This record gives sequence, C-alpha cells and structure tokens, in this order.
Amino acid sequence: MRSLINILDLSVEELDELISVANDIIGNPDKYADACKRKKLATLFFEPSTRTRLSFEAAMYELGGNVLSVADAKSSSAAKGESIADTVKVMSCYADIIAMRHPKEGAPYVASLNASVPVINAGDGGHNHPTQTLADLLTISREKGRFSDLTVGFCGDLKFGRTVHSLIQALSRYDNVKFVLVSPDELKLPSYIKNDVIKANKLEYVQTTDLEKVMPELDVLYMTRVQKERFFNEEDYLRLKDSYILTPDKLINAKSDLSILHPLPRVNEISVAVDKDPRACYFRQALNGKYMRMALILKLLEVEV
Ligand code: NCD
Repeated sequence: MRSLINILDLSVEELDELISVANDIIGNPDKYADACKRKKLATLFFEPSTRTRLSFEAAMYELGGNVLSVADAKSSSAAKGESIADTVKVMSCYADIIAMRHPKEGAPYVASLNASVPVINAGDGGHNHPTQTLADLLTISREKGRFSDLTVGFCGDLKFGRTVHSLIQALSRYDNVKFVLVSPDELKLPSYIKNDVIKANKLEYVQTTDLEKVMPELDVLYMTRVQKERFFNEEDYLRLKDSYILTPDKLINAKSDLSILHPLPRVNEISVAVDKDPRACYFRQALNGKYMRMALILKLLEVEV
C-alpha cells in the first residue's frame, strides 16, 4: 500500500505515467466514469481550503466513487483532543483512501504510519504540498511540452509557501533547470530546500529581490501569496504582503511564451488585468489539479482502467 506524503515518493517514471493518465482522462472522461465505483475517499481538512478539497472530491465523483468529508477541524473529534493516529485508524474503517491537510508539518506522515489505507498529503503547514505539484507539473507539461531546459522563477513567499518547496523538489530531477528565486529577504527559501535540494543536486540558481530585472529570462513564472496564517505577527505580514504585484506593464519584457502559474488563492499578487493575457495559466492549472488527483487516486487504489 502506497501513500503520497512528499512529491519525491513518486519516481520520474511514475510522474510521467500520472501525466499520461491525466491526459487520457481529459480526452476520454467516460472511460473513467465508473473506475472507483463503491470506493470512498475521506477528505480530512484541518486547515482552510477550497480548491484542494473540492478538486479531490470532484475527482472522486468523476471516477464514480463517493466522498466523506471533514471540512472543518472544529466539527471533528480533533476538537475533543483525539490524536491524528486514532483519527486515521478509525477513518481507515470507513474509507478506502484519505486526503489530509493539517497545519502541523509532518501530520500526514504520522497519519500514513497509522492508517491502513493510502494517505495523501493535501498540504502540511509550511512544508509540502505534493498534489499541488502534480497540478503544476501537468500544467508545465501541457503549456511548455517539457520539464528540462527551463528557467523557472518563483516569486513571493518562498519561506512558507509549501507549493514552492514541493515543486522545486520535483523539478530538481530534470536536466538543465535553472531556478530564479525572487522574494523579500525575510521570505527567502528555507535552507533545507536550498541546500538539500538545489545545491545538493548542483542546480543553477539565483536569488534576487527584483522581479522586473529577471523577467526576460523566465520560461515559467510561479507567483505565490504571502502566507498570512504562518506569520507570528500581523505587522510583518502587513509590511510584506504587497512586496510583488504582477501587472501587465511588468510583463512587457517577458518572453512571449512565458507561462504564469499560481497555485491560488490569489490575494493581491497578480492584478486581474493579467488574467486575459494568454500567458496566464492559473485557472487552467486549477482544472489540471482535478485530473491529476483523479490519476493519483487510481494509482494509489491500484485501479486498472
Ligand atoms: C496553496 C496552499 O494551500 O498551500 N493553495 C492550494 O492548495 N492551491 C497555496 C496558498 O494557499 O497560497
């Protein structure tokens, strides 16, 4: 039985396989309509979410399965003091697969050690978010047709942005990927990603605070929200929240085939005027998330279509 806690739990070959299943689902949705009949997905979300939880649920419904949902920790027994281990032992009696989001780093890993069904990390604190990375990879694959030979800019909250950490881990396995890390000094990439992933794999990278200066180099620009919920004080958040706001004039020197990604939700960091630029991929990216979650559920439940 397999769980997905970190994106590196999947090999490059397995990622290719998930992408090809997702593309097949996009082309032939009817083929998959009963694939998970009588199977149940439990979504255990101890932190706010719209896209991730609902795209998991939509994914399971489109596979013909059913969903059990805890959307709010306050309404579950966690509020009575139940441990994660006990919660997932019990959930394993009711559901065939669990998707969990939790504010504590490592919580889904603890869950996977105690569950008797596969556990999917749907975001753990400021750490990892592997299924967002699946959405990001399908988007890059469909928009750019490759993962190698890309200059990828990450902009915003690189410290707490878990989607950034997981996507850098995933891209570190391809050839000739260069990272351009754009953030305020206070929100730089944590050293466990910079040293253990980027430097350990001898990947090229630059760190800067100036988005406009690096814009012409980028093939992909991954914008992120400043993660308000992870700040210790409101004052720092207010000072940093609008560090970067992407507007059409800042894209004047960008490549004509740039792909602009954002895991969403957006707050202020991309102006709505950018949405009509054909290079804006973020709403397509959100849709891709559903298809990749369908492919992942099939894989972890070992369903052959
Ligand atoms: C992201 C997350 O939860 O980390 N959202 C998502 O799952 N699409 C990004 C964010 O909240 O900023």
